Amino acid sequence: MDTRPIGIFDSGVGGLTVVKQVMKVMPHENIVYFGDTARVPYGTKSKDTVTKFSLQIIRFLQTKNVKAIIVACNTASSNSLEEMRKAFDLPIFGVVVPGVEAALRATKNGKVGIIGTAATVRSHAYEEMIQKKNPEIQVFSKACPLFVPLAEEGWTDNEVSSFAAKRYLTELVEKGIDSLVLGCTHYPLLKRCIGTTVGDAIKLVDPAKATAQQVMAFLAQQDQRNESETYGTRNFYLSDRTDMFGFLCQKALKQPYEAEIIDIEKY
Ligand code: DGL
Repeated sequence: MDTRPIGIFDSGVGGLTVVKQVMKVMPHENIVYFGDTARVPYGTKSKDTVTKFSLQIIRFLQTKNVKAIIVACNTASSNSLEEMRKAFDLPIFGVVVPGVEAALRATKNGKVGIIGTAATVRSHAYEEMIQKKNPEIQVFSKACPLFVPLAEEGWTDNEVSSFAAKRYLTELVEKGIDSLVLGCTHYPLLKRCIGTTVGDAIKLVDPAKATAQQVMAFLAQQDQRNESETYGTRNFYLSDRTDMFGFLCQKALKQPYEAEIIDIEKY
């Protein structure tokens, strides 16, 4: 039994979609969340910058005595996971491997679509991991950068998001994919719009759930689950104030939370 919190971070507040799954799968675990709202987006930045930011954030989370880290951000997971694991003696989980495993379970015809930020697609992390696990699978990737500001604007299912979805996703549908990985923390917020655009025959894969399950299995195996009877505490930290936090708490977590603002540059 280990009551120390799980640290979860993202480039912004999109990672609350991952917090939602962690709360569902492990309701008794304490959670410390950091969203880098002062420096979002990561999806347009270089690998070196994303790595530098990620290492700073883990140093901050260490001050909260976390027992494990979940890198909720797909951009950081695909670009900088190795560097993070090298730098810290802590279990660090990304969203790519669980997302890939979920996609491999979902596909029947061996054609998988991946959507994410430009930096995630450029890293080829999803493709390489899929190919490593099953070289027979055909992977089609597409960066959908406008989905992030659309989700942040709350335009998750209107004519603008639907137009963007058609422009981005038609080519993947035409490739004959039968499953589509939502490889960005913001995209589950547009799930309905994406689902309507690609049609029922294409399964949408959200890596968040599989990630939460992977972490749960790891903690159980290490005898590090929090076995308290009460629900875990949830503490939220941001690097800048944003109205999006309140909006997303309501949308993803269905309850209001307060966030403390910290200066991440100090870490
Ligand atoms: N959190 C990022 C991701 O999952 C999306 C937003 C950004 O570009 O920072 O890739």
